[in-house]
Amino acid sequence: MKTITTPAIERVGVVGCGLMGSGIAEICARRGLDTLVFEVDEKALEAGRARIEDSLRRGVARGKLSSPEREAALLGLRFTTDLTDFADRDLAIEAVPEVEELKTRLFAELDGVMRRRDALFASNTSSIPVMQLAAATSRPGQVVGLHFFNPVPVLDLVELIPTLATADAAWERIRHFTEKTLGRHVIVSQDRAGFVVNSLLIPYLLAAVRMYESGFARAVDIDQGMVRGCGHPMGPLALADHIGLDTTLSVAESLYTEFKEPLYAPPPLLCRMVQAGQLGRKSGRGFYEYTVR
Ligand code: 3HC
Repeated sequence: MKTITTPAIERVGVVGCGLMGSGIAEICARRGLDTLVFEVDEKALEAGRARIEDSLRRGVARGKLSSPEREAALLGLRFTTDLTDFADRDLAIEAVPEVEELKTRLFAELDGVMRRRDALFASNTSSIPVMQLAAATSRPGQVVGLHFFNPVPVLDLVELIPTLATADAAWERIRHFTEKTLGRHVIVSQDRAGFVVNSLLIPYLLAAVRMYESGFARAVDIDQGMVRGCGHPMGPLALADHIGLDTTLSVAESLYTEFKEPLYAPPPLLCRMVQAGQLGRKSGRGFYEYTVR
């Protein structure tokens, strides 16, 4: 059996506290890690903090954690709008919107800020080449993809993605952290747009949008077909709303850019809905209507 000799990861920094970042920060804090969360301004930070507190409350109500565990998780969380506070972090997990330029710039900034020589840099990107983010740093060997699934506190899968440059020690350390410290199930993917899950999931979601767009069936019938007929927890249009139609679109665009396959081409209706601000659950309207909390 291989012995892990690299230092444990204890101080984690999560960049971005939206849907994914808040879930990632929550599970880190629930596993006893010193978790620092960055957002661009106080308003975004407060919204992220409220999302985590709400989820922890629901976790207690559903019997997934005890009240003392919830209190301990809250104590393990700190929030900042100053990225230089990440200087002492062992690991930064980036979970900002899927905008290539934004992520690339952030990795260059983190490289300048994080002082520990063995610090690791991970991206929760679902579609941008991890190698491109690694190349923005002076330490590409320390960069990996670490892709979580929404809702993060509920779904225990993580896709781990090494790049052509990831160092063996960094790889062993992040894998050990994800499996043992976070207690997640790991699958490994090559650094290709969409990795394993989105490469399979996105064409399915796009096919449902095309089916709806062409008038073939009602949204509710498409969704019920897959829930009741195939045992899926939710139908494809409800799932696209849950993921966010903007995120679904940007992942489809990345897949299409990478592979040029028609099955990845975003249908016009999806583009128009995003342009109209109909982003799904988070905006209150997508294929269905929602109450925004
Ligand atoms: N903390 C911990 N556990 C929680 C929780 C919380 N805050 N909230 C709910 N749970 C638990 C519940 O206790 C329950 O567990 P149980 O089955 O052991 O009782 C389970 O989560 C389900 O919760 P609910 O009963 O409240 O909710 P539903 O049964 O309606 O399920 C759902 C909601 C989990 C969203 C389910 O519909 C589902 O799994 N949908 C599919 C989601 C999916 O496919 N996500 C992946 C998207 S792809 C992605 O993220 C990648 C990106 O790159 C695009």
